[in-house]
Amino acid sequence: MSAAKLQAPRGTQDVLPEDAAARTAVERAARAVLEPAGYRRIETPTFEQTELFSRGVGASTDIVQKEMFTFRDQGDRSMTLRPEGTAPVVRAYLEHGMHKEPQPVRLWYLSSFFRQEKPQKGRFRQFWQVGAEAIGAADPAVDAELVVLLRELLESLEVRQVQLRINSLGTPESRAVYREELTRHLRAHGDRLSDDVRSRIELNPLRAFDSDHAGTQEVMASAPLLQDFVSDEDRDHFAEVRALLDAAGVPYEIDPTLVRGLDYYTRTIFEFTSGELGAQSAVGGGGRYDGLVEQLGGPATPGCGWAAGIERMLLAAGARPEPEPVVDLFVAWEPEARRTAFEVLTEARRAGLGAQMDLAGRSRKGQVKQAARLGARYVAFVGADGCALQDTEAGEQEDVDPAAVVARVINGRHLA
Ligand code: HAM
Repeated sequence: MSAAKLQAPRGTQDVLPEDAAARTAVERAARAVLEPAGYRRIETPTFEQTELFSRGVGASTDIVQKEMFTFRDQGDRSMTLRPEGTAPVVRAYLEHGMHKEPQPVRLWYLSSFFRQEKPQKGRFRQFWQVGAEAIGAADPAVDAELVVLLRELLESLEVRQVQLRINSLGTPESRAVYREELTRHLRAHGDRLSDDVRSRIELNPLRAFDSDHAGTQEVMASAPLLQDFVSDEDRDHFAEVRALLDAAGVPYEIDPTLVRGLDYYTRTIFEFTSGELGAQSAVGGGGRYDGLVEQLGGPATPGCGWAAGIERMLLAAGARPEPEPVVDLFVAWEPEARRTAFEVLTEARRAGLGAQMDLAGRSRKGQVKQAARLGARYVAFVGADGCALQDTEAGEQEDVDPAAVVARVINGRHLA
């Protein structure tokens, strides 16, 4: 009886070698867009104390209420696999005294995140994000800079059918007044709402705008809008962000119903969607979080950032042919010449050549076939009594001392 085969957990996926090149391209593009703008890379731990997310992301959010992978460690402390990157980056900012550095501190990350969501196209339980955070400056140019950079990243990856929506949430104070009004409106029409929205009126009334339930949508069409409650300063800030985006030639739509699923947002929020994605259309989003540093025990410090899902960016970018790895030299060998063959291989790799050696015990004919399959430019046949080097492009073969093979290949590459 054979043992049952194991599978990757539901909602996770293996990144196979054929997928890896596309991910490398994302990393390269992120670095090329973000580092010249002053963003430096940061990596935080895969798991954190649960409290970081309940305090940072917000106890009433879907993420904290039902999506976190939480466990107890051996010291009976509650730990959580990070569901997002902003709270951990802010924790690191405080823990390492970055508030003493010149502000804003600009950071970027490429990491995996974990949410216990129902898996579907573009929605996974372990997924990857590229993210950027600028902490320590309230200037609207920070918000605009971040939007422009995310747009550039999406453009450089050729993500298709991209649309940008923006909104301003105001401050927690103006939001509290608005929340009261909205709650009153939802209660007055409680009988037409979905069960889910109705049961969460007190907890998170803003989420009702995201509902796809027909009755709820009708009720929301006449709901009070946040923009009518924000302060003059918040309105001015948002107007300036828009003016800067206009100046940068970035098209956007103002969507007064845009709310994002994390509690830390203040003022500007934004989301890029792609028509290529279906139901899970958000490819990346973010916003300002002026209260988060304080919320996590630091001094009052503004911040702004975004994150974009790597799987979603790649889905919406479509397939791009990846160049095959170059094999300059394939070392074929007879059983008695393993050591010499291995020496030639090692020397070739040290010299920076793409080099392979047969490791499957193939016959000479099999080795020739394998070299052709790999598209090797040169094939060295190493035997007990010498070595022959074949130039597969020229179709020529000559006897060469094994110690001279690498120099000969390098020379030939220069001539080609
Ligand atoms: P978020 O909107 O929750 O924001 O996630 C950002 C992006 O991550 C989404 O637009 C989506 O592309 C991707 N994503 C989220 N959940 C999943 C999933 N289950 N499967 C696949 N992709 C997913 C944040 O995480 C904030 N930390 C962004 C931010 C940074 N705000 C300020 N700074």
